[in-house]
Formats: sequence, structure tokens, C-alpha cells
Amino acid sequence: MPMKFCHVDRVSEIEKSIYRTPWSRHAFINEILDNEFAFYYVALAEDTVVGYGGIWVILDEAHVTNLAVSPAWQGRGIGKALLQHLIREAALLGAKKMTLEVRVSNLKAQALYRKFGFVDRGIRPNYYADEDALVMWLEKLPAELYG
Ligand SMILES: CC(C)(COP(=O)(O)OP(=O)(O)OC[C@H]1O[C@@H](n2cnc3c(N)ncnc32)[C@H](O)[C@@H]1OP(=O)(O)O)[C@@H](O)C(=O)NCCC(=O)NCCS
Repeated sequence: MPMKFCHVDRVSEIEKSIYRTPWSRHAFINEILDNEFAFYYVALAEDTVVGYGGIWVILDEAHVTNLAVSPAWQGRGIGKALLQHLIREAALLGAKKMTLEVRVSNLKAQALYRKFGFVDRGIRPNYYADEDALVMWLEKLPAELYG
């Protein structure tokens, strides 16, 4: 479901438990309230946020800005479900292709993205404070998803 203001505290907790340089609570609030290009979604288990993901959609391109699952809930298919949802929403919003950056050391996330057809398109040096990013693209969103 779409991320709402009431989800942000829990999202922010998960964010802090996962990333070395987490987004602030404020950053999520800005994204969901003030950024007309941004679309964020949460995965819930018994009304509690266990994962979240977001995209920016600009013209025919979607950019995955964040995708995360609470450590206790990882490895149960939630990441896959969230990514599938992001791809579907991007297609419905008019995107024809999708891109993202991922840490070169994050093989788990890369495996997930490859499963959905993302391919490596290059390295963005020093994209993170301490590491390069692998740039991946999904060149064609699944045709059956186009509105
Ligand atoms: C990456 C992440 C979102 C995946 O979510 P998840 O719910 O754990 O993943 P799923 O259970 O849906 O698994 C999806 C795929 O990821 C890969 N994967 C999952 N666990 C893995 C592991 N321990 N080692 C390698 N690959 C793994 C597999 O390809 C898996 O598909 P499969 O189950 O068909 O084999 C989650 O691990 C996470 O939040 N990581 C920290 C934040 C992060 O790295 N986000 C991505 C930033 S670009």
C-alpha cells in the first residue's frame, strides 16, 4: 500500500537498522508529501511496516530510490513482492524503463534485481561515501503492465 505519514516512524527505524547512512525521517516525509515525482509503498505484516520501497517517475523513466526489508523479515519473499509492485506501479505511471544504483558489494540485492531482468550498465565511482555503485537498468518494463 502507499506509504503514509503514519508509517514513517517505523520506516525510519528499519532504515536506521539497515543502512550506514540512513535517510532521515524528514527525508521520507518530504518524499511522500512534497515530491510529485515520488511514489513510495510499504509492505505490512499485521499492520506493522516490514518493508518499503520507492520510485521517482520522470517521463518514461523510473528510478528506484530505496528498497528495504526489516532484517527479521528478510529472505521471505517480501523484497521480491515489493520490487514487483514498484515495477507494476512504474509501468502504470507511464514508465517504459527503470534504473537503480546498488552498492557493488551488495550481491543479495543485485541477485534480486537480476531476477527481474535488470542488467549491469556501468559503475558510478564513489557514488556512496565509501563505495562505488553498480548502475542497473531494466530496459523494457513488462508489456502486459502498460496501461
Ligand atoms: C535486498 C532486500 C530488499 C531483499 O529483500 P528480501 O525480502 O530479503 O528478499 P526476498 O526474500 O524477496 O528474496 C529475493 C531474492 O533476493 C536474493 N536473495 C535473498 N536472500 C539472499 C541471500 N542471503 N544471498 C543471496 N541472495 C539472496 C535471491 O535472489 C532471492 O530470490 P529467491 O528467493 O528466488 O532465491 C533486503 O535483503 C534488504 O532490505 N537488504 C538491505 C537493504 C538493501 O540492500 N537494499 C537494496 C538497496 S539497492
